[in-house]
Amino acid sequence: MLTARPPAKVNLSLEVRGRRADGFHDLVSVMQTISLSDRLTVEPADEITLESAPASLAGPDNLVLRAAHALRSRSGRQGGSRLRLEKRIPTGAGLGGGSSDGAAALALVSRLWGMDLHCSALLKVAAELGSDLPFFLYGGIALVTGRGEDVRPLPDPEPTWYLLVNPNVHVATREIFAALRREEWSDGEETLRLAGAVRDGKPVALGRNTLQAPLFRLYPAAERCFREVEEQAPGRTIVTGSGPTVVALYKLREEAARAASLLEHRGYWTHVARSITATAEGQETPCR
Ligand code: C5P
Repeated sequence: MLTARPPAKVNLSLEVRGRRADGFHDLVSVMQTISLSDRLTVEPADEITLESAPASLAGPDNLVLRAAHALRSRSGRQGGSRLRLEKRIPTGAGLGGGSSDGAAALALVSRLWGMDLHCSALLKVAAELGSDLPFFLYGGIALVTGRGEDVRPLPDPEPTWYLLVNPNVHVATREIFAALRREEWSDGEETLRLAGAVRDGKPVALGRNTLQAPLFRLYPAAERCFREVEEQAPGRTIVTGSGPTVVALYKLREEAARAASLLEHRGYWTHVARSITATAEGQETPCR
């Protein structure tokens, strides 16, 4: 049996530069994997099957199943794999959990089947399954551009604490991009500057997130949550991905935990996580 701990990610900055001919958007983002993770195991079997906790996530759209099927059609093999997923990362939250599970499934299943696929071959399959999957084949911290398929790893910064706060709202990435207005596009410079600072070994900071505006238009509860977190961490608060999870940056775990308990009392889901490196335990990062 092979096991992985697919991590969540946070976008420290995310700018949309425009719309591409294929309908996807041209992004510039700095992404970081964090210590909140799911658990995925694979075992040899006759068929490809998925059990998950909660069971409701084991449908045919699950990226873990789609990853295994994509590898099977690529290899032309008959065999299967018994996949088990324990979910801890909230879904529809902007934390990339589904994509991370899918990327880990590509790495584990290809190994289980002895396919000997290296980074470039896995990246190709990953990019076909979803825009966030390629990043998870690298893990750690990286500058991500294009649709999400162009990933440039950055050196690990000092370990950082992230307070995650979710207003218990599920968001579909597609609807947020659909609500984005042309005048909200930007040139990506702020995110590129942030990546440059990380490359120079400076402490991690947050940039901006283009998708906050459409998120807040569609989900006023997400904006209220953002304002409440920002009160606790002024100037160090951002929405991750298409949201609605709000992320605040902390140097000290205790301070993040104090804010977490306050916000939890107001009915929010909270979690304190730290940045992890690409080589942390349970990470499947064949592109590093
Ligand atoms: O690639 P993925 O399936 O994760 O994307 C979900 C949706 O998010 C896409 O259908 C598209 O509407 C939007 N998206 C986009 N540009 C990107 C990534 C995602 O427009 N670079």
